[in-house]
Amino acid sequence: MKFTENKIENIIELCEDPTPEPAGIIIFGASGDLSFRKLIPSIFKLFKNRKLINFYLLGVGRSTLSDEDFKNKIKETLISYDQKLVNIFIEHAYFVSGNYDDEKLYIDLNEKINTLNEKYKTLNNKLFYFATPPHVYLPIIKHLGRCHLSRENGNFSRMIIEKPFGHDLDSAKKLDAELHKYLNEKQIYRIDHYLGKETVQNIMMMRFANIVFEPIWNYKYIDHVQITVSEQLGVENRIGYFENTGLLRDMFQNHILQLLTLITMEPPASLNADMIHDEKIKILKSIRPFNIETINERVIRGQYIKGIINGKEKSSYIDEVGKPSNTETFVAAKLFIDNWRWSGVPFYLRTGKRLKKKISEVSIVFKDVPHSIFSDFYSVKIAPNSLIIRIQPDEGFSLVLQAKQPGSKICLNTLNMEFKYKNFFDYEPQDAYERLILDALLGDQTLYVRNDIMEESWKLVTPILNSWKNNHTDLYYYPSGGWGPKEAFELIEKDGRKWREL
Ligand code: BG6
Repeated sequence: MKFTENKIENIIELCEDPTPEPAGIIIFGASGDLSFRKLIPSIFKLFKNRKLINFYLLGVGRSTLSDEDFKNKIKETLISYDQKLVNIFIEHAYFVSGNYDDEKLYIDLNEKINTLNEKYKTLNNKLFYFATPPHVYLPIIKHLGRCHLSRENGNFSRMIIEKPFGHDLDSAKKLDAELHKYLNEKQIYRIDHYLGKETVQNIMMMRFANIVFEPIWNYKYIDHVQITVSEQLGVENRIGYFENTGLLRDMFQNHILQLLTLITMEPPASLNADMIHDEKIKILKSIRPFNIETINERVIRGQYIKGIINGKEKSSYIDEVGKPSNTETFVAAKLFIDNWRWSGVPFYLRTGKRLKKKISEVSIVFKDVPHSIFSDFYSVKIAPNSLIIRIQPDEGFSLVLQAKQPGSKICLNTLNMEFKYKNFFDYEPQDAYERLILDALLGDQTLYVRNDIMEESWKLVTPILNSWKNNHTDLYYYPSGGWGPKEAFELIEKDGRKWREL
């Protein structure tokens, strides 16, 4: 199974990303962890791939950094890259320090942007990236609006807003209303970096560019679906953020629900961003709501205690926080999509920190064959077919099938038909942030979250948050290095099913 050489060339040419218009990229929270770990390396790669030609990179932050300090920090971050190229890149980098609620910061910012715009001929195009703690989004937006930096007049001014977008439904609506005072929806890019992952994008290609899956992609053939997004890492140095957020807001309201919509939505009429979002919203609106009576049965929250990962002892969440805390580091949930396609199909979703392995995958488990002609020969129940979509690591998918075990007896064995990106395409998966920043520069919102989708996701999880806040739900503990609390196993096992072994 290989493309012909000829086809590969055509495909590569067709798949080449367009080059965006010149623009300045302005990062709020530029001296923070996300900025150096993800954003700056991604912006550098865009530069390296000649997607950024006329541009400047302006960091904004509370740390007192000079332009030189910022350039040096970027150099340290990019130490593993060609230093000649890095030196050219940092010539485009600058920094402005100040307090986000101080008007002076925006006067300085405005001045610097004007100078850099002239110097780098960026046509007054601006892409702002909000990588700050969420509680400062509102003051930044107000100030940018007041000093007209958000205004478009033949140029573009776009804002990428990091998650969590709000804290619950009300705060998300408030933030959105504030944004819309100064911006229209086409200027707002609510980021969910999972949507930029190559394998997540592939879900749509797999479902809608192949005819073989569609006829069986429904309640008639699918027994249930599992989504697991697990991490080995704990909250590390993000305790302040995490204590205010918890895993439901950090991973479930966004990444998990986005994966779910891609797996379950109807085929959109085209790849147009709004058409895709229109299909996603229908799914979110069809999810059976969680209410106070059902939360305990359908949602399990957990928190890690100490345990061993890769031979190393890990501390408990409470020890890391240094005080009692009910913040969840694990969530498992069972939900239903009440529409024609998915009627009665349970979706089991789980995500957690400090689990055994870092792995994200979707597993579509099909129903048993209607009648087994092997039962006279074969006493063991035949394992059902399943399709495993591996988001990371080891990106790819596999189809689990039954085949005859060679030999004289009638014996079945389970085999995996494997597709691995790395074996098939000679290429490193692009970092999600690189993809998404490029899309925002190109004005493509397909892989971003539209406001109604964001609201609907909050609508779904807010009753869970309220139940937890009012202590109506237990918090279960699990040792680091396992697969979560035993109650998460019971959630699926009481239905006669099992989490896939990972
Ligand atoms: C982020 C969360 O959105 O996703 C983090 O805030 C989490 O808590 C991270 O660690 C996981 O992303 P990835 O791409 O490593 O799976």
